[in-house]
This record gives sequence, C-alpha cells and structure tokens, in this order.
Amino acid sequence: MSKQLDGKVAIVTGAGAGLGEAIARRLSAEGAKVVVSDINGAAAQAVADSLDDALAVTTDVTSEAEVKALVEQAREHFGALHIMVPNAGVGFVQPIAAMSYDDWRKTTSVNLDGVFLSIRYAAPVIAECGGGAVVTISSITSTAGSPLLAPYAAAKAAVRNLTETAAIEFRPAGVRVNAVLPGFVDTALVTTAAPQFEAALGLPAGGFDGLIEQKQGRYGTPEEVAAAVLFFASGESSWCTGSSLVLDGGMVGSLL
Ligand SMILES: NC(=O)c1ccc[n+]([C@@H]2O[C@H](COP(=O)([O-])OP(=O)(O)OC[C@H]3O[C@@H](n4cnc5c(N)ncnc54)[C@H](O)[C@@H]3O)[C@@H](O)[C@H]2O)c1
Repeated sequence: MSKQLDGKVAIVTGAGAGLGEAIARRLSAEGAKVVVSDINGAAAQAVADSLDDALAVTTDVTSEAEVKALVEQAREHFGALHIMVPNAGVGFVQPIAAMSYDDWRKTTSVNLDGVFLSIRYAAPVIAECGGGAVVTISSITSTAGSPLLAPYAAAKAAVRNLTETAAIEFRPAGVRVNAVLPGFVDTALVTTAAPQFEAALGLPAGGFDGLIEQKQGRYGTPEEVAAAVLFFASGESSWCTGSSLVLDGGMVGSLL
C-alpha cells in the first residue's frame, strides 16, 4: 500500500529528542527517507538507527557552514530533497530586566537564525528537486506578549513572519512554506522551564501543570504536533502556503 511520503526525502533539525524526534518518526512511518539532524550527534544517531533508511547528521543550526553541509549531505546521500522541518529550538526563561545581551542573542540565534539558515539553504535545493515543503515550528508565544520568554517569543513571532515571506518568495519555485504553532507540549523544553515559571509566578511546586490544565485542558503530545507537520509536508495541504496552524487545546482563543 502506498504511503503519503513515499519517495520523498526530508530533513528534520533538532530531531534527537522531543518534537523533532516525533516528527522524524512520523515522516519516516509515512515512507520518507529522513535525515535526522541534531547538535547532539549521539541522540540523532540513536533515532536514525531506529528508523528505516535514515541518516544521522550532527548539525548546529546556528552555524551557516554546518547547515549548508547538512543540505548538501542530504542530497548527496539520498539523491534529492523535498521536505525541510527547521525544528531545532531552545527555551530560556528570564525577565527582560535580568537578561544579558548574550543570552538574548543565544536564544534568538537558535530559534530564528537557525530557521533562516535552514530555509536559505534547503528551499532552493527543494526547488531544484521538483518542489516540496518547508514546515517551521513557531509557537503560540508568537501570538501575544509572553512574560519571561522575551527572546523566545520574539524569535517565534519572527519565524511566523519569515514563513509568510518565504512562502511568497518560493511560491513560483513550487516550495510551500507553512508554520505550526504548538501550545505547551510535555517535552524537556517545558519540563525544565516549569520550576522557573512556578518561582516567577508565585505558584507552588507542580502548579505549572495546573495552569496548563486550566488553559489548555492538558499538555499536547509530540505525536499531535507531528501529525500537523505531516499535513503541511504532504500533498494534503497542496493549496496552503504562508499558513499558520495553532495546536493548543484552545488556549489562545480564550480570554480567561
Ligand atoms: N515543547 C513545547 O511545548 C513547544 C511548544 C511550541 C514550540 N516548540 C518548539 O518545538 C521545537 C522543539 O522543541 P522541543 O520541545 O522538542 O525541545 P527539546 O528541548 O525537547 O528538543 C530540542 C532538540 O533540539 C536540539 N538542539 C538544541 N539546540 C540546537 C542547535 N543549535 N542545533 C541543532 N539542534 C539543537 C536539542 O539537542 C534537542 O534534541 C523548538 O523549536 C521549540 O521552540 C516546542
């Protein structure tokens, strides 16, 4: 039986853990050959080893040379490239008044510059290979002020705008560019930040989970985000480009 992504080649950055790992697994299950890329080479290798026809590549998405090499390696190894998911990201929880310029730049560098570099080098190659899709991972923090998350949220808002610009620039070349905006998903990025939110918001230990339950109903799962990425990566979304899909259990749609 044919699968949705048979014959396609995909790169997922930050795919050694969390959402990226779930996205790599789902694209692979749908028939894609997946380049599992992460700054943590051992984690990328472990994920790639568990998939059919996958390649692990160690990449720091803030390095222009490494992102360029990642795209070249994908095309060389699998003969083509059709899908890029610039998923790699880092969290950082601190109020603006306490933040160093260095921390601001580190956070925006991974979350925004890494997405620029991924689109810059992958999209022209996808076009040369007959077209395909880029799926960026923004966040609901892009939709409103996000206390304690200034550089993260600003970068995610910029990713949405970059997604829209890239969608128009690459439309003639047959490359669709769309964004998913997850709410809070139960990954290391969130669980490590939860105690910092609790301290800053005056919540008791474990209080962050209660806040999420109140605002989102529950945490999202990496698999739910991967399903949305699959939609934008596949022909099921053939008329979508520059679109944003919010997945958050209703959080941003509610005032209280
Ligand atoms: N978890 C959430 O609730 C949530 C919500 C919205 C958006 N997101 C976004 O989803 C993406 C994945 O987040 P996650 O929750 O899976 O995080 P995670 O911390 O669980 O995993 C992130 C992965 O990215 C890798 N990474 C970090 N810096 C890198 C770099 N410079 N180059 C390459 N790889 C790097 C890490 O090694 C790790 O494997 C991020 O862009 C994040 O902002 C997450």
